[in-house]
Amino acid sequence: MRPATVAGARLPSTLREFEALARDRLEPAHYDYFAGGAGDEVTLRANEDAFGRLALLPRVLRGHAGNPGIEVSLLGGRASPPVLVAPTAFHRLADPDGERATAGAAAATGTIMIVSMAATVAIEDVAAAAPGARLWFQLYVQPDAAFTESIVRRAEAAGCEALVVTVDSPARGVHGRDVRHGFDDLPEGLCCENLRDGTGRVRPIETSPEISWEHLDRLRRITALPIVLKGILHPADARLAVAHGAAAVLVSNHGGRQLDTVPATVEMLPEIVAAVDGAVPVLLDGGIRRGTDVVKALALGASAVGVGRPVIWGLAAAGERGVAHVLGLLHAEIAHALTLLGCASVADLDPGMVRRAC
Ligand code: FNR
Repeated sequence: MRPATVAGARLPSTLREFEALARDRLEPAHYDYFAGGAGDEVTLRANEDAFGRLALLPRVLRGHAGNPGIEVSLLGGRASPPVLVAPTAFHRLADPDGERATAGAAAATGTIMIVSMAATVAIEDVAAAAPGARLWFQLYVQPDAAFTESIVRRAEAAGCEALVVTVDSPARGVHGRDVRHGFDDLPEGLCCENLRDGTGRVRPIETSPEISWEHLDRLRRITALPIVLKGILHPADARLAVAHGAAAVLVSNHGGRQLDTVPATVEMLPEIVAAVDGAVPVLLDGGIRRGTDVVKALALGASAVGVGRPVIWGLAAAGERGVAHVLGLLHAEIAHALTLLGCASVADLDPGMVRRAC
């Protein structure tokens, strides 16, 4: 990949270095909002550490031509690369163009972007800013069923290809870093544009502990969009998701921002893949920082992965170009890892290529 520069300086060559650059550029309270997790941040650390404890076991002398295929099939379409932009809130805290810039980078790199319901740019404006972007929309089911439906209709009209329903948030996670900074609201001039109702008022996002599988059934009745359930950690819930018609499950602990001390996502992946037994695709997010992390997840049965914070670091470092660079680095690292593993494409990955290192 050609070295990219920001204000005359080279852009970093690893996702982790992007975090250091973003930290220098962001207000400390905003950096900590993006970086932080719930409780003692045990799960936040565990997501990354768990990938480090997995070793890759390559095959040799397989005579592949190079340039491995990184395309996968997903929800009846194709995804290349097998990486999605995970839904994260408040992109305009990181860059004035916010989600518009992220979508531009997603379009430029062929990456599917899951737009957060808590975006600081309205879904219609994100779609208009990046006409080539493939967008999925993330939804928190709201207690007001009519309001929830109106948001679904907006996502449909904006051309979103899927609905990602986040189910791990019956209450808001408590983030110690935000408490210490007193950060509890967006600054003047920014708001969650997808939460504007018919009167123009921006409603608060409500967590709803009463949400149940019946709400998923109701959502399926009101939309033809495929529904991805995000925040599945228990294999029994993965089986229920399939039984209730979810089009895919996304193994996620919200990047360690909800219940602290839950397992790392990649630790739960094999059990969930076994529980789903091929009925629907299994996606995963949490702690992906290297192409080797991506191939480990794919080898263990994930169809694709989501990346959250590294996208924010790219955005804070260099706007749209920074996000494109982060995604480009990841794509190049995936292809390189596949070549070194002796794989002609992601289809050649299998669970035997991943071992517990310690
Ligand atoms: C999130 N995440 C999230 N998830 C969601 O469904 N809706 C949302 O609005 C948000 N907002 C959000 C903000 C910030 C700052 C972070 C870091 C995360 C969770 C996100 O989709 C994803 O699960 C994690 O970010 C994945 O972990 P990594 O890649 O950040 O380690």
